Amino acid sequence: MTDSVVRVDQLWKSFGEVSAVEDLSFSVERGQVCGLLGPNGAGKTTSLRVLMGLERPSRGTAALFGTEVRPGSRELLRVGAMVEQAAFVPHLSGMLNLRLWWEAHGGHIRDADLDTALGIADLGTAIDRKVRTYSQGMKQRLGFARLLLARPELLVLDEPTNGLDPGEIRDIRELIGRLTAEGATVLLSSHHLSEVEQTCSHLVVMNHGRLITSGTVSSLVGTAGSVYVEVDDRERARAVLDALAIVGKIASQGDGLVVDLRDGRRSDVAAALFGAGLRVETIAPTQQLEDAFLELLEMQPGGAGPAGSLPRAEQETP
Ligand SMILES: Nc1ncnc2c1ncn2[C@@H]1O[C@H](COP(=O)(O)OP(=O)(O)O)[C@@H](O)[C@H]1O
Ligand SMILES: [Mg+2]
Repeated sequence: MTDSVVRVDQLWKSFGEVSAVEDLSFSVERGQVCGLLGPNGAGKTTSLRVLMGLERPSRGTAALFGTEVRPGSRELLRVGAMVEQAAFVPHLSGMLNLRLWWEAHGGHIRDADLDTALGIADLGTAIDRKVRTYSQGMKQRLGFARLLLARPELLVLDEPTNGLDPGEIRDIRELIGRLTAEGATVLLSSHHLSEVEQTCSHLVVMNHGRLITSGTVSSLVGTAGSVYVEVDDRERARAVLDALAIVGKIASQGDGLVVDLRDGRRSDVAAALFGAGLRVETIAPTQQLEDAFLELLEMQPGGAGPAGSLPRAEQETP
């Protein structure tokens, strides 16, 4: 009947007085990269922990591959989960860490999908270096490699880019891209709109434990909004942008311009400005993510889909 990889149905979870998840329903289908997006305290980690059988629901259900999750469910063997920071033995190489971990879990390394894991993690020759010498981002990639050894059909990642610098975040984004190309289904959480926007095919937006909206990224955030730009020559920028079909109203604000986008992405605006030889000092969304959530909450108390767009969060470095 249903072949959803993940199905959360009217899930409630409270810890004593604290209500962490309230009436949450969503599903993830095979091949999707779904972002669970919400500010800190929204209930993302709790939802993922219930899904991994680490917490028992107060009410409602969480199912994997069509089967309700219970602690020790067989379906969990088909999932690679990173819901806590991965720990490694620092004075051993990345490769030895992978091998020991795999063998400690009862496998022989020749049965592990080492080639795929190493290919996707892309650590190159660093795999033979001591983990002690790894950056945070490299450790995170080694963590991915470890998850991939067992050929999981679903990856569940709680804030996989937390604590990483922008370059490392880009690496993780590429890594998830390679995973997707291999046909993996991914459910990841994040509190950065711009990050999920670039990584995910689908979004589930939550706040205060509740679903705000869900759908494809393009239907929620992909094609509209407004950006703030600062360039070395504002009037020339105005002329360049005025000629673009994707641009609506343009208004001056402080040293820059607020540019309404009818359709298209921030990167299109950046490309046009670069193309005209302008120096772009800043190109940023006009609203913070928190504002966006508040706005959505006020607009959709019942949790229906948004009428328009979700403003973007983070500053983009073009
Ligand atoms: N084990 C717990 N005991 C008590 N409260 C908890 C526990 N885990 C989470 N919470 C609370 O539940 C709410 C949601 O937390 P969490 O799921 O961690 O949100 P997120 O991952 O979106 O930041 C928060 O108010 C948090 O303090
Ligand atoms: Mg969390």
